[in-house]
Amino acid sequence: MSAHIYVSGDTAAPSFNLTNKNLSYIFRVSPEGILEHLHFGSRVEPSAHYPSGPKRLHRSCTLDFQDSKLYSLSDVPQEYPVFGTSDNRTPALHVINADGNTTQVFRYASHRIVDDKPMLDGLPCARGGDSKTLLVTIVDEVAQLSVELSYTIYADHDVVARSSQVFNNGERSVSIEQAMSSCLDLPAAEYDLLHLRGTWARELNQERMTVPQGRFILESATGTSGNVHNPFVALMDKSTTEQHGRVFATAFVYSGNFAINIEKGEFDSVRVTTGINPFNFRWRLGAGESFTTPESLQVFSGAGLNGMSQIWHEFIRQKVSPLEFYKQPRPTYLNSWEAAYFDIDEDKVLELADRTKALGLEMLVVDDGWFEGRNDDTSSLGDWYSDSAKFPNGIETVAQKVKQKGLKFGLWYEPEMVNPESQLFRQHPDWIIGVPNRISSKGRNQLTLDLSREEVQDYLFERIDSVLSSGHIDYVKWDMNRNMSEIGSFALNVDQQLETPHRYMLGLYRLVDKIISKYPNVLFENCASGGNRFDLGMLSFMAQGWVSDMSEPIGRLPIINGASYLFPPSVLASYICPVPSHLNGRKVSLKTRAEVGFFCAARGVSLNAEDVDQDFEGLTRYAKMYRETADDVVNGYFYRVQYDQNEVVWQLNSEDGNTVYLGYFHILSAANLPFRKAHLVNLDAAKQYRLVDSDLSFGGDALMNMGLDLPYVCAMQQSDADYLEKGDFASRLFVFKRT
Ligand code: DGJ
Repeated sequence: MSAHIYVSGDTAAPSFNLTNKNLSYIFRVSPEGILEHLHFGSRVEPSAHYPSGPKRLHRSCTLDFQDSKLYSLSDVPQEYPVFGTSDNRTPALHVINADGNTTQVFRYASHRIVDDKPMLDGLPCARGGDSKTLLVTIVDEVAQLSVELSYTIYADHDVVARSSQVFNNGERSVSIEQAMSSCLDLPAAEYDLLHLRGTWARELNQERMTVPQGRFILESATGTSGNVHNPFVALMDKSTTEQHGRVFATAFVYSGNFAINIEKGEFDSVRVTTGINPFNFRWRLGAGESFTTPESLQVFSGAGLNGMSQIWHEFIRQKVSPLEFYKQPRPTYLNSWEAAYFDIDEDKVLELADRTKALGLEMLVVDDGWFEGRNDDTSSLGDWYSDSAKFPNGIETVAQKVKQKGLKFGLWYEPEMVNPESQLFRQHPDWIIGVPNRISSKGRNQLTLDLSREEVQDYLFERIDSVLSSGHIDYVKWDMNRNMSEIGSFALNVDQQLETPHRYMLGLYRLVDKIISKYPNVLFENCASGGNRFDLGMLSFMAQGWVSDMSEPIGRLPIINGASYLFPPSVLASYICPVPSHLNGRKVSLKTRAEVGFFCAARGVSLNAEDVDQDFEGLTRYAKMYRETADDVVNGYFYRVQYDQNEVVWQLNSEDGNTVYLGYFHILSAANLPFRKAHLVNLDAAKQYRLVDSDLSFGGDALMNMGLDLPYVCAMQQSDADYLEKGDFASRLFVFKRT
């Protein structure tokens, strides 16, 4: 069944049902002309009338909407609400009109339906395909403003993509204080919310909590989407589990300041508004101009959180990730960062390349430290020329030599930054994000370049292009290691200073788009001190991301688990780190390091020559395993089977379902533990699954309904075959073949 948009009711006040085989998104125009939200959830057959709930309220302290007696917006679910005309909840739009007040009333004016999905100008967004888009225009004649709301429904994805475009139809400027991309008003109920929170090296940790009365805000104001809250939230019934129940989720396709407001109002309905963070934001909208919000994606699952994740994973792979790479097995690699840090030169690169080759890995990545004067993190960002002492023949020549060994070559950049200690800053001190007469705070000794300026974008394009045009670069790690501070642009007018962060994002997207359009076959990896900008905006340009600097696998377990709520394994990168971990000092076996990393599509190592030689045999074995399973992981289906403080079980089914990987991770050891089972999911109940390297075979029904006995730690154990290895941080990767 394909995507449909049904319009019913009378032409002045129609109802809309956007539907596919599973899903309906329904709203109507009320007699007052207000867009009232009716339903987001399981499919509802198109109809002339839908139940729309009581609207006539007799409640003290509740305002009637204008002169429509007994109609109040205070508890009416709406599509794009404003403040101050009987609804005092968080608005979707808040504008200072040309006459100085903030009152607007938007009424339905018209709609049109188009095949497929229009792309957003200058902003990343999901691709269309088998989809239909409804564009609804609402107008305020007094304020001389209109908004076009865009809704795309897909045939094969239970996703509704939304964005809004605000038009100033008047002759004077107005000031947009808040323009959210979407509003979802859910009916009164007790909900839980799940979000992904963290900080550096502890990104994307899941937190599930009751939706409280009042306003709970997930946000960033750092100029990045950030690592404190990810621009994603899932609301669900309290009874929802990983496998069962209703989930309503939102993810924002944007990499800068965002806000997701979850507001449980006085009558217990819950409003979720998603968009650019209104805090520290203001946009002057001149006469005749329009402002386009980024895209907000809504998902509904009736099959629990795993069901939700399956929808996100498929959608992100097929509609968000770059087409060139989303199905491509990722090259296994050696990255120089934890192997050598800044102590890198031509000889060392070639030495690491030899190890890369000997291990059977496919790509060598030269991380930080290759450009002019960069010997530590105090200088040189901005000076994107090969360091003449370390690479006298240029990085391109080294890349060529590495490629002659039969390897791919990857290179690190941090284009958006500049050290005060650099040629670039000395030449262009005003090219930074900053404000007059203030000292700019540094982060990692660096400042943020003002990417809202075209000349800055052009400089960076020219520098990166000069290396990529050699044709020897297969992969770029695009890093970004500080948040914004003292936010302003020396190129913008006084009354536009608060536009800086969004203009920065538009400039960044423009630059990245220009580079990637010229080099579509170069694999880009998104990184921002790990996961400080791990969002669907960046991931629509870059096929994968360095999800966290926490390379130690036990520290990485909650990060990958949390990430998996939204992100498929195809966008996750990982590597086998040195021991003890440089991040937390933990000593973890090669087996566990390799088996946790297994669940990310981009897999490699970051080890120096000595470490490689010491574990050569094991590393070679895992490199082979990584190569041989690369296709299964990039195209497979990932499920969370179990997650608690001490035990984690993940499952990955290959695309054809013939191979099933079950990773079991046991964090702290203990003696005499209870026996435990893992219930596998999404197997073929009628088929047998043979456990590789054993003579055991189980029915799919048995593995799902009875569960697989998990290995056990035993003080008296003779071998590791039936038991888990003794000690902390143990793991076991079971591989089943469907027969
Ligand atoms: C931060 C990244 O997250 C690391 O992987 C590494 O690339 C360093 N930057 C290099 O400075």
